[in-house]
This record gives sequence, C-alpha cells and structure tokens, in this order.
Amino acid sequence: MAEDRNVTIVEVGPRDGLQNEKGVISTEDKLELIRLLADAGVRRIEATAFVSPKWVPQMTDHDAVMRNAVRRPGLLLSALVPNEKGALAAIAAGAQELAVFASASETFAQKNTNCTIAESIERFRPVLTLAREHGLPVRGYVSCAVDCPYEGAINPAAVREVAESLVGIGCGEIAVADTIGRARPERVDAMLAAVRQSVLADHLACHFHDTSGQALANVDVALGHGVRIFDSAVAGLGGCPYAPGAAGNLATRDLVLHLNDRGFRQPVDLEMLALAEALARQMKASK
Ligand code: HMG
Ligand code: MG
Repeated sequence: MAEDRNVTIVEVGPRDGLQNEKGVISTEDKLELIRLLADAGVRRIEATAFVSPKWVPQMTDHDAVMRNAVRRPGLLLSALVPNEKGALAAIAAGAQELAVFASASETFAQKNTNCTIAESIERFRPVLTLAREHGLPVRGYVSCAVDCPYEGAINPAAVREVAESLVGIGCGEIAVADTIGRARPERVDAMLAAVRQSVLADHLACHFHDTSGQALANVDVALGHGVRIFDSAVAGLGGCPYAPGAAGNLATRDLVLHLNDRGFRQPVDLEMLALAEALARQMKASK
C-alpha cells in the first residue's frame, strides 16, 4: 500500500497560543485571527477554551468567539472543554469538535484542573455523552506525555494508560503533548512506541511546544510512527499558565515548510498565512 502523504494541521494559536497572554486581546482581533487562518487554508482550528474564567482569564470571551467565528465548508472549529459545563456551553455556541484534556502527570493534573487523572477521566464521561448526542468528534489530549514541569521525566507506560482511558470513554483522536517543549526525539520515539501499542497511528496527533528547538525533529519521529496530524500555532504563539517554562507551540509556518520539504501534502498557503502572523505578532506586542 502506498504511504499516506496527506497531513492535517490543527491550528491551536487562537486557544493555546493566546491563553497565556496577560494583556487584553479584543474578541474582534481573535475573530479576525481565526478568519485569516481560515483564509490561509487551515482546516482545523482550536478556536477557544470553555474553561473557568477564573483559571484562564484570556478565554473569558469563549462564547462570543465561538458564536461569531467564521464558518466555512471543510473548516472544523474546535473548543477545549474541561467538564460537562464547558461542553454544554461550547455546543450551544456552535463548536464542531470538542477537546478534553488529561495529563500523564498527577501533579500537572492537579495544577491544571484541580483533580486527579482518574477524576479528570470521570469528568469527561458526560462530555463524551453530549458529543455523541450531537454527533461531534472528540479529541483527548494527554499533557506531559514526555516531561512534566513538576515531576520531570514521565514513564511512557503512564502515557499509554491515560491514552487508553481516553479511547475507552470514546475519544476518537488522541493528541499526545510535549507540554513544556523539552522532549528529545529519542524520548518521543519511546513514548510513541508505547502509545501505539494501544492507539492506531491514524487516531494519533502530536502537539509539540518548541522551547528547546526540538519540535521539528520530533515531528520527523512522529511521521516515522505513521502520525499524520500535527498541532501548531500561528507565529509560534503559545504556553500554558500552569506549565512554568512552557514556551510557544511549534510555529505553523515552520511546520508547513518542514512537511512540504518532506513531500507531505497540506493545504496552507504561506502568503496568506503571513497576514495571520502579522496580526498574531501585533497581539503579542500590544500586551
Ligand atoms: P475548580 O475550581 O476545581 O472547579 O476548577 P469548580 O467546579 O469548583 O468550579 C469553580 C468555578 O469555575 C465555578 O464558578 C464554576 O461554575 C466555574 P463560581 O461558582 O466560583 O463562580 N466553572 C466553569 N466556568 C466556565 N466554564 C467551565 C467551568 N467549569 C467550572 N467549563 C476547572 C476546575 C477544570 C474548571 C478549572 O481547573 C479549569 O478551568 N482549568 C482549566 C485550565 C486550563 O485551561 N489550562 C490550559 C489549557 S490545557 C493546556 O494548555 C495543555 C494543552 O495545550 C496540551 C499541552 O500542551 O499539554 C491542551
Ligand atoms: Mg499546549
């Protein structure tokens, strides 16, 4: 069988990219960023997070963002949700995909969501039920899939276990995340080898932050494992308020160029992307 050379890019800039920004970013600017990304040909955009405004103030306008975000045939707008309350609000606002987020580190689960890993999985069950009722796909993140800012190196078996739990409750896609962007390719290789014992490569996505400049080398490792879905953020925006040391996500332009170089097909137009990058940089500069 011929190797699959089609790759999907999930643009997480409007959510992961902006969530850590301290300054006021207007809802209008967020909507314009999403529109420019859609114009550039991105087909999946994580538009916002229906999380507690007390925990992540930058996402307080989630409802207005999701309700007013551009809609295009072939474009999937996703919302990050931590629980049933978030899922109900995201669905009411028109989210086309939900993303739940678990962690392979107990300490990070507490810091990020104020619960244990097992409790987080229980919180997701009603999210999956709602998604099924509304015919929406659900992605499940596994944060700290390689390293945790609090616990250090994470055992690949722990990542596999959380991925299995997420598949078990009905997540159709598992996104393994190098939350702090310090993973070296050998360790990503070991983690993916473990996770693939339980999850087919077709159902896997990789979410790399780029703190140590290893993200593209890690993309290559993941391509070798058959992964064809990659997250990135416009202009390399990004960071998590509960992961000290986490720098930006892998930049969308770097990912596109890298995939093009390797003969993988994806639909992003780099000239159009430049318009979204200019706005993203302006958002960062104005804080
Ligand atoms: P909690 O304080 O334990 O929850 O927070 P609670 O149930 O006691 O609720 C506290 C308050 O939040 C209540 O309001 C709830 O109504 C409200 P109050 O009565 O005090 O006025 N609340 C909500 N409001 C809006 N939307 C909701 C919601 N749920 C409760 N969905 C909770 C628990 C999970 C809510 C909180 O810890 C939280 O929101 N955490 C989110 C943290 C976050 O967003 N982190 C960044 C995203 S994850 C990430 O970046 C990693 C990723 O990129 C992958 C990677 O790189 O690793 C995905
Ligand atoms: Mg992230």
